[in-house]
Amino acid sequence: AGMVTLDPGFANTAACQSKITYIDGEAGILRYRGYPIQELAAGSSFLEVAYLLIHGELPGPGELKEFTEQLRANAALPVEMRAMIDALPRDGHPMILLGAAVNTMAAFYADTTDPDDSDQVDRATMLLLAQLPTVAARIYRNSAGEQPLEPDHSLGYVEDFVRMTFGGDSGSRELDELYAKAMDLLLILHADHEQNCSTATVRVVGSSQASLYGSVSAGINALFGPLHGGANQAVLEMLEEIRGLGGDVDSFLAKVKDKESGTRLMGFGHRVYKNFDPRSKEIKELAAQILHRQEQPDELFELALRLEGRALADSYFTDRKLYPNVDFYSGVIYRAMGFPTSMFTVLFALGRLPGWIAHWREQRLDPAARIARPRQLYVGPAQRSYNG
Ligand code: CMC
Repeated sequence: AGMVTLDPGFANTAACQSKITYIDGEAGILRYRGYPIQELAAGSSFLEVAYLLIHGELPGPGELKEFTEQLRANAALPVEMRAMIDALPRDGHPMILLGAAVNTMAAFYADTTDPDDSDQVDRATMLLLAQLPTVAARIYRNSAGEQPLEPDHSLGYVEDFVRMTFGGDSGSRELDELYAKAMDLLLILHADHEQNCSTATVRVVGSSQASLYGSVSAGINALFGPLHGGANQAVLEMLEEIRGLGGDVDSFLAKVKDKESGTRLMGFGHRVYKNFDPRSKEIKELAAQILHRQEQPDELFELALRLEGRALADSYFTDRKLYPNVDFYSGVIYRAMGFPTSMFTVLFALGRLPGWIAHWREQRLDPAARIARPRQLYVGPAQRSYNG
């Protein structure tokens, strides 16, 4: 064993080599498989990006069609799985229920759990991608006290998720389309982010040769935390709190700067981005577009804009290189679409799924991969005697 160095949060430890996502945190660069996030955001679709992340190359038109058709054909849940989801506590947080449901997929599809069988891994990949939106929508409908809706295979992946969630009556066809397009873009922007907490979790769990389902379920639970994906829900709650204070942004920021308060500016800061988060720029523009269409100006969006402006003019934030991250504006969009705050992190999970799968598969094929087993520096008592 070489020298063991202390590295809390693995901030300076590369645990693997990866060909999936490139980030340059100083320059604000994000690329999936070499393609800049801005180009993918402008021109591709979520399923194209999912294929790219998982298989390494963009799909040809025939491949994309086949991939889409397979996903749609596998979207319906087995009857027993529906009953299982319906039996979960309806007031439980949707992320808790989502993690539980995905974990049970290893039992419902027991013949697709062998990590060493590439056909089984392909099948598990397909089932997870196909069914996560169905599961998520069912959990939402149950929580809202509404009848769950079955998938409609004739619709697109994202479009059908929006329909299964809201029942296709958001007001107008045009609005449905706009929302599906916005949702697609948000999913693309969340699809991968190299060794973030949940993806690292998926890899760590997968390193013991656990199933893809078990690993993804662990990733969902990691994502749920407020310092990670749970931040998108926390941002909305923070904005509502500030609105409750009469919109007094400055006294809220004063509280954040007082470390004793334990309050953080949610949606700000990032382990890797120390300049800006390229995803936040895309999302801010999308938010402006979507909210512009509402009849009245969106109070929380206005508040978020003001909060961002004040924070970026404050040396506390600039000295520490704290900028808005992917979660800062996503919540106001989800809210405008009609999603309750408790669903925000579920939407993040739908987006991150292809990234989790791509990393799990990459690790499985990596000859250098070993079981994840960090070291420690022991600082507890030296030997002492039980007998006094
Ligand atoms: N508000 C106030 N102060 C902050 C914040 C914040 N959001 N983030 C970091 N700081 C301060 C922190 O107190 C520390 O100050 P000092 O040097 O005086 O002790 C300094 O900035 C460095 O912070 P850190 O905690 O060492 O940074 P980290 O790399 O360990 O944490 C982070 C990164 C994202 C967890 C953190 O910035 C944070 O808690 N942000 C708020 C939650 C959030 O928005 N999370 C979403 C992350 S993006 C995508 C995702 O995963 O969902």
